[in-house]
Amino acid sequence: MSSTSKIVILTGAGISAESGLKTFRDADGLWENYSIEDVATPDGWQRNPKLVLDFYNQRRRDVLAAQPNAAHRACARLQDYFDTVVITQNIDDLHERAGSRNVLHLHGEIVKARSSVDPDCLVPMTGDIQLGDKCPRGSQLRPHVVWFGEAVPMMEEAAAETRTASQLIVVGTSLRVYPAASLVEFIRPGTPVTVIDPAPAMVSARNVTTLPGKASEMLPPFVEKLIAALGRT
Ligand code: OAD
Repeated sequence: MSSTSKIVILTGAGISAESGLKTFRDADGLWENYSIEDVATPDGWQRNPKLVLDFYNQRRRDVLAAQPNAAHRACARLQDYFDTVVITQNIDDLHERAGSRNVLHLHGEIVKARSSVDPDCLVPMTGDIQLGDKCPRGSQLRPHVVWFGEAVPMMEEAAAETRTASQLIVVGTSLRVYPAASLVEFIRPGTPVTVIDPAPAMVSARNVTTLPGKASEMLPPFVEKLIAALGRT
């Protein structure tokens, strides 16, 4: 493992698109078919918890039926050669199932449920959550996801990791949701940033390369190039 090179990979829904999981903002994306206010806010949960549970129960079923793709596996391969941190906005566990060990989930994890009153009371969850399902301390379970209007507890750790990156790779995210999108602002000036996406978002940094295309096609060869370059240093 190279001790001097730390790679941070920031991923979004696009990296899981080829595993069959819908993105949010592409044509026919989740937010075209559901209202954010109804299913992804604390107010929506207060108004109609069953609708919210149904929405995330379906997300969990889809995730459990999906398999990691070549892009998830390429992220995992990097950790054999570099200090590697995956920071994902995704609630799926496809990075972990592809073998990545160091994964920060900014927006939570669908394979966990949490108490609706205590965010630290978590339980593993692979089935549906129903109204009436209680956490060990007796309050209704909800999905362990971050809703719009809620704090992003992993943000501080993610920013600290990004600050010490020697290279940032951004894959499959529209960079439309804050604070996650602001992570790119934490790199040290001049740090190389590579953006892989069929419709790459604008990143304002000094040293940005865009590789327009699908994650599973663009990321594996890029990873192999990084590994090959190690042999030349
Ligand atoms: P978006 O749906 O906003 O963006 C998906 C990105 O993936 C777009 O830039 C697409 O061009 C790209 N994309 C599509 N297919 C791809 C492929 N095969 N390979 C690579 N890229 C591809 O999803 P996110 O940016 O992840 O948060 O959305 C951020 C947050 O908004 C989510 O975490 C979620 C959502 O609301 C919460 O629910 C809190």
